[in-house]
Amino acid sequence: MAHFLTLDSVRVGFPIQKGLFRRTHGHKIVLDNVSFNIPRGQTVGLVGESGSGKTTVGRAILNLVPVLSGGIRYYPAPDVNNFMVLGGLREKQFRSLRQKLQIIFQDPYSSLNPRLRVGDILMEGLRVHFVKLTPLERRRKCAETLERVGLSDASMDRFPHEFSGGQRQRVSIARALVLDPEFVVCDECVSALDVSIQAQILNLLRDLQAERGLTYLFISHDLSVVRHISHEICVLNGGRIVEQGETAKVMANPQHQYTRTLIAALPSLVPLR
Ligand SMILES: Nc1ncnc2c1ncn2[C@@H]1O[C@H](COP(=O)(O)OP(=O)(O)OP(=O)(O)O)[C@@H](O)[C@H]1O
Ligand SMILES: [Mg+2]
Repeated sequence: MAHFLTLDSVRVGFPIQKGLFRRTHGHKIVLDNVSFNIPRGQTVGLVGESGSGKTTVGRAILNLVPVLSGGIRYYPAPDVNNFMVLGGLREKQFRSLRQKLQIIFQDPYSSLNPRLRVGDILMEGLRVHFVKLTPLERRRKCAETLERVGLSDASMDRFPHEFSGGQRQRVSIARALVLDPEFVVCDECVSALDVSIQAQILNLLRDLQAERGLTYLFISHDLSVVRHISHEICVLNGGRIVEQGETAKVMANPQHQYTRTLIAALPSLVPLR
C-alpha cells in the first residue's frame, strides 16, 4: 500500500508558563513518540479517551500546533522516494498544502462562522486557493458540492444556525470538499449526532472516498464508530500509541490491555444473562 502520510516519533508539548512575566518553564508533553502510517486512499481510525491527544495529532499534521521533535512526511504521489517534510513549516510554506490537507473540526457550532451565509463560508477557501475561477464558476462549484453532500443550493443563502446538527455537519464536509482535497482529518465528525444520522454521514464519507480516492484520518472516542469506517486503527492512550493494526485484527485479537478495555465497553447485541 502506497504511503500518504507518515508520522515518525512526533512529540508535541505546550509551554508551561508561570509567574508575572509568564516565563516558559518547560513543556507539558501531550504527544510522546507518536508514529504511524496513513496509506493512500484509506481510512485510519484514531481512537482514545478524552484528553488522550487525538485532536492534537490532527492539528500537528495540519501545522496548527508546533512539533517539538520527530517528523511528519507527506507523499504527494504514490512514488515513495518523493516526499515533503511537514511539521515546523512556516504558514507561508504550508499555504499551498492547505487546500490538499483539510480538517472537519470537532465542533461545527464553533467552527462555522455564524455571521456568514453558507455560500460565503464555502467561498472563503475558493477565493484563496482557486483564484483563477470566475465568481460564477466558484458559485457553481459551491452549489455542486452542497448538492453532493445532500444539501440544496438554496442552502448557500442560509446561516449555519438555520440548519440541524446533521445538516451543519454536511456543511462542514462541503467546506472541506469544495477545495478538492486529497486528505481530510475528520475530528469527531459524527459524535454529536444520533445513530441514524451518524450512519448517513459515515456512508457519505465512504462514498466520497470511493469516488475521489480520499485519504482520511478518522478521529473518535467511540470505537463502535471507528471500527465501521476504518481500514486500520490506532489506539492512543495518554499521548502514546499503544496499539495499531488492521481493524479486523485489532478487534479480534487486541494486544494491549487498554484496547481490550475499550472493546469490552462496546455495547453488545447479545443480551446479558
Ligand atoms: N493549546 C493548548 N494548550 C495547552 N494544552 C493543550 C492545548 N491543546 C490541547 N492541550 C492539552 O492536550 C491534551 C490533549 O488534548 P486533545 O484536544 O488533543 O485531546 P482529545 O483526545 O482530542 O480529547 P477529546 O476527545 O476531549 O476531544 C489535553 O490534556 C489538553 O488539555
Ligand atoms: Mg478532540
